[in-house]
Amino acid sequence: MSDTLDCRICGGTLHEFFDFGRQPLADAFVDPNHPAQEYFHRLAVAQCGSCTMVQLLEDVPREHMFRTDYPYLSSGSSAMQDHFRATAGHFLDHELRDLDSFVVEFGSNDGIMLDTVARAGRRHLGVEPCAGVAEAAAAKGIRVRNAFFEESTAAEIVATEGRANVIYAANTFSHISYVDSVFRGVDILLDEDGIFVFEDPYMGDIVERTSFDQIYDEHFYFFTVRSVQNMAAFYGFELVDVEHLPVHGGEIRYTLARSGSRTPSPEVARFLDREKILGLAERPTLESFATNIDLLREGLRSLLVRCRDEGRSVVGYGATAKSATLTNYCGIGPELVSFIADNTPAKQGTLSPGSHIPVRSPEAFADPYPDYALLFAWNHAEEIMRKEAEFKRRGGRWILYVPELHIV
Ligand code: SAH
Ligand code: TMP
Ligand code: ZN
Repeated sequence: MSDTLDCRICGGTLHEFFDFGRQPLADAFVDPNHPAQEYFHRLAVAQCGSCTMVQLLEDVPREHMFRTDYPYLSSGSSAMQDHFRATAGHFLDHELRDLDSFVVEFGSNDGIMLDTVARAGRRHLGVEPCAGVAEAAAAKGIRVRNAFFEESTAAEIVATEGRANVIYAANTFSHISYVDSVFRGVDILLDEDGIFVFEDPYMGDIVERTSFDQIYDEHFYFFTVRSVQNMAAFYGFELVDVEHLPVHGGEIRYTLARSGSRTPSPEVARFLDREKILGLAERPTLESFATNIDLLREGLRSLLVRCRDEGRSVVGYGATAKSATLTNYCGIGPELVSFIADNTPAKQGTLSPGSHIPVRSPEAFADPYPDYALLFAWNHAEEIMRKEAEFKRRGGRWILYVPELHIV
């Protein structure tokens, strides 16, 4: 584990604004039959006084996080399948219109986005370090390279496949502390007038909705339009477009091009103005975010303790990576939430990291239905509530904590 006190991008001074203490790896589910020593790290967030980038103070070695048995499968959500089908469709109508065009996606997981590109017969390559999910993509006929995307990987790809018109990453670029190597890779691999597009949780939404559970080991950076613009400029690129997306509780899709190669859309300036009005880079904003985190912790804990004292059953829904920070920081274990229902095969039969709440299949949720369900996968609320409509019909209630604590 490396300690860093300087900004990983510009070398500026970091100002810490929240410390969650020691936390487990958010995707390291525990096998109850072979309980190994869990890996804990210090989870603390800071903002750079120069480039404004919000980042973790410590990074976890990537091999600990992104292993062969990485359990997260992107295709577990049908809403996300729709989202990535539309994303691929947009590329096919624009940058990938030419039949010989080429797209590289890093963090391609089980191929949720590239599936559409492959079916359209376009040249593509996924770069995915976790062998399990990479194999799931390959089984669908998608070309995948089992590697971490960085400078050396990009050099190998360009040598055999040529340059890419689009380099894309969803919920991945923010996971990578070593952005310098990634940008050098993008520089080598991207066509002169190509675009580098990435989408990640938006710090503006996290602050506005107190969705502090987005903060865990794999989320190293928390982007804003201003910090991404600064980062791009630092590496010879320019932020030319931004688009606010509703997925995963609010994300922004950033489009970068080589400096001076495209005219930035007016959306960039509009978002910069909005962030200024919100005071997103200001100390008092982050201080009130920190206060709201602790208020939410107190509120949620006392609600769950009251449920327990009144003899009401509470089950969790969605063993998300996010729920690791929520359960461990709020002190929520199996005594408050008896188990978590989740549709991911690799998570079922395990215990949640650190908090050790058993994870079971969604069938267990109805057998019998609990009084309350704490929706850890709040970003998939619509899809899950639709699937589990019977729960509410039978008098069950959902506990949500984003954008504030409420029961429906
Ligand atoms: N793009 C998918 C998956 C996001 S999960 C989606 O949006 O649903 C993040 C993925 O990034 C994981 O599959 C992880 O293995 C991968 N990843 C992490 N570091 C990476 C790197 N340096 N290069 C490529 N993929 C990486
Ligand atoms: P995510 O918020 O990181 O996408 O994780 C969502 C988790 O919720 C993942 O473990 C899969 C699970 N899930 C279900 O169990 N049922 C569902 O219908 C959906 C959409 C997700
Ligand atoms: Zn900085």
